[in-house]
Amino acid sequence: MKDVMYFDQAASSWPKPPAVMDAMMQCMQEYAANPGRGSHQMAVKASRTLFEARKNLAKLFGVKNPNDISFALNTTHALNQAIKGFVKPGDHVICTHVEHNSVRRPLEYLKASAGVELTYLTHDEQGSMQLNELKEAFRSNTTLVVVTHSSNLLGTIMPIGEIGELCRSHGAKLLVDAAQSAGVLPIHVADMNIDMLAFPGHKGLLGPQGTGGLYTHPDIDLEPLLHGGTGSQSEAIRQPTVRPDRYEAGTQNTPGIAGLNEGVKFILGETVDKIHAKEWAHTQQLMEGLLGIEGVTILGPKLGQNKTGIVSFNIQDVDSSEVAFILDQSFQIAVRSGYHCTPLAHEVAGSLAKGAVRSSIGYFTTDEEITALIEAVKEIQAQYAK
Ligand code: ALA
Repeated sequence: MKDVMYFDQAASSWPKPPAVMDAMMQCMQEYAANPGRGSHQMAVKASRTLFEARKNLAKLFGVKNPNDISFALNTTHALNQAIKGFVKPGDHVICTHVEHNSVRRPLEYLKASAGVELTYLTHDEQGSMQLNELKEAFRSNTTLVVVTHSSNLLGTIMPIGEIGELCRSHGAKLLVDAAQSAGVLPIHVADMNIDMLAFPGHKGLLGPQGTGGLYTHPDIDLEPLLHGGTGSQSEAIRQPTVRPDRYEAGTQNTPGIAGLNEGVKFILGETVDKIHAKEWAHTQQLMEGLLGIEGVTILGPKLGQNKTGIVSFNIQDVDSSEVAFILDQSFQIAVRSGYHCTPLAHEVAGSLAKGAVRSSIGYFTTDEEITALIEAVKEIQAQYAK
């Protein structure tokens, strides 16, 4: 598969830094024992690996106590823990029109099953939101605001710091979906007033699939999503209150987290600012090229505006899955097509009828790959224009 040009970074990043694979292999070969469940040397080494990863994640996200970060299988798992663990019957929750189904579905589930009230904020065509609308949406029973940091369809970046201030002044908590921002945009939970942060390990953090996590402010006690063994307080019949055990029932993914730790170390070394600057420059190069092709339209922020490395587009009325299929089969270019689990964001962008081709850029994307994608779209457009 080495000749593939991979533009599906928003779904899962690839390639990974070699240290990620090396650490996973070393764990499997040398110390893949159960972390937190024994006092022998291999179990201790496994526990230490988890703690080191927690420490590095805490450094990346401005978290004071690494134990306020619990590991999860992915962002969806972390979001479910946060939403279902926090929201109570009778609560009012505010979210947005560009949320992923991982936010929308648990909230709609609680609306249907527990009478939770829900408000969706609107956006302009570029995916930007109006803070005034948020201000007016707060009610006396608003307990939670859930916002994606960056839209997985449009790449639009939400003003999390300002949203955090508004939440604080209205007595609501802020949960941020960092699926498209962890590792590629600056995140500091204290400075941005973020109360809960759900993040993937396998996207911008460059770790393997099956990893992710949730930061929970120390003042918030979530009802655990899973109950079971933690290796601690075995005599207690209730889930321990101590963190991170409270939210980590069952054996953790030690080899995966060993890999994730190396991904986070790579990001800390390169710096998030450098990663974002490089991805943004490539995003602009791609947008410029695509905008020069007749009949191609790009969703989301305009050229020159800040965004993450996502460029979603359509070629006239050509079906997005057909374009993705041709890019894959004839050009060895991997993109994602369709609705990207975010139908509401397509309403915002006016693309609900046809979906979109989504190309997404990562830190290892090259100038040559961007040029190849532009040339491929030109060829496809020319075929369809005939
Ligand atoms: N949520 C991921 C995406 O946007 C899978 O593709």
